[in-house]
Amino acid sequence: MRTPISEVKNSEGKELEFSGWVHARRDHGKIIFIDLRDRSGLVQVVFTPSIPEAKDLRLEYAIKITGLVKARPASMVSAEQPNGAFELEAKTLEILNASLATPISVDTDGMEIDEEVRMKYRYLDLRRERLKNNLLARNKVIKFVRDFLIDKNEFVEVETPILTKSTPEGARDYLVPSRIYPGKFYALPQSPQQYKQLLMVAGLEKYFQIARCFRDEDTRGDRQPEFTQLDLEMSFVEREDVIALNEALLIELIEKLYPEKKIQEKPFPRLTYKEATEKYGIDRPDLRTDKNDPNLLAFCWIIDFPFFEKVDAAHSEASVKEWTFTHNPFSAPKPEFMEDLLAEKNIGDILTTQYDVVLNGLEIGGGSIRNHKPEALKAVFKIMGFEDARIESNFGHMLQALSFGAPPHGGIAWGLDRLVSLLQNEPNIREVIAFPKTGDGRDPMMDSPSTVDEKQLKELGIKIEKK
Ligand code: AMO
Repeated sequence: MRTPISEVKNSEGKELEFSGWVHARRDHGKIIFIDLRDRSGLVQVVFTPSIPEAKDLRLEYAIKITGLVKARPASMVSAEQPNGAFELEAKTLEILNASLATPISVDTDGMEIDEEVRMKYRYLDLRRERLKNNLLARNKVIKFVRDFLIDKNEFVEVETPILTKSTPEGARDYLVPSRIYPGKFYALPQSPQQYKQLLMVAGLEKYFQIARCFRDEDTRGDRQPEFTQLDLEMSFVEREDVIALNEALLIELIEKLYPEKKIQEKPFPRLTYKEATEKYGIDRPDLRTDKNDPNLLAFCWIIDFPFFEKVDAAHSEASVKEWTFTHNPFSAPKPEFMEDLLAEKNIGDILTTQYDVVLNGLEIGGGSIRNHKPEALKAVFKIMGFEDARIESNFGHMLQALSFGAPPHGGIAWGLDRLVSLLQNEPNIREVIAFPKTGDGRDPMMDSPSTVDEKQLKELGIKIEKK
């Protein structure tokens, strides 16, 4: 039976079986030392001439040994290593698999290696301590969120479709051609927004999902074409309820999982959009009092955004300047502006219930209270200049659903990758995603996107126009 290397420190005097990779190797002639690595840690292994195959070991070989756990002589104790006071005296060795010389080193933080090469050999890149720790930390954050929401707050985790319908959420959709209905397309969800609202109509009351979202937009350090949200929605709530729950979750999560971090101000300060842009020139200000402190977390809520903004004709169907939503067409206005929304009056002055949560200058989440009455949602689309027929074809299902006693509801989505990257002090979200895309939207390991067989295109009724 295999023992994890983290158990070495509790196993002095025992002969146990360990498996892992050769992380380092020192050949001292008769005696060969290796550092053996598994997910849980590192330990030094000593091979005497009684195991001649030890000569064949090279870096990143996968091996199995039995070894006697011994205390190292006091002069050899390495204080900075978790198992530095111990070593294994190898009794047997089995080479489970050899390894080619790796094209990238895995014993550094990897920052010195060209990212294209790191991505091409991502499965090796992930062997490095830093990236392994990021994945383990991400796992802990998600587990904490699940426990908090399910066990303590009666939320239900529900999966929503990935093959869905193109909707206007601000970014370009990824489209999936339908084979059965040539000329028709599914869209990958930019977020589960409509489904989570429909789950409120369905009576779920408290929904969440660790949800994959897809947006065909230019990639940046804090943006990926496919990313993960903690998406949630609640019924019979007002803005304060959603803010309070999320603030409590963020604070508890950080205090439990990141005790070394300091939250600059609790409760989180709130700024209106107007205050933020007037004072800081941006709607996601970095409020840290000391920007050199990697453990300082300055959260704030931004509220009272304008609901609509004017856009160029290029972004709208009309040939004149038109209105569009600033965040989400499904948001409700602040209650005092409902009359103006319904009357399509003073449009530029209408404020929305939208709230964004900002951390150290990065928008890590956003949400709103929704229009739960069909006439209010319809007014939003009318202000945007949509004809009745288009409203019906794009959003008829939502208007209809809201007509069956839809409860007042609201929610939020966090950018989970962004939050974890900040908590792990990483410079971009690619470092906390197992298999991210490059800055220009490719996966060099799989070589994706790629061409497909002519036969596949034919089945879909698709012809590629050469540019
Ligand atoms: P929004 O579009 O603001 O809201 O998205 C919520 C959060 O998701 C993160 N985010 C991203 N992270 C990585 N890569 C991207 N391309 C990317 N785009 C967004 C941000 C953002 O704050 N349905 C609404 C939520 C709601 O109203 O409940 C929505 O998706 O951190």
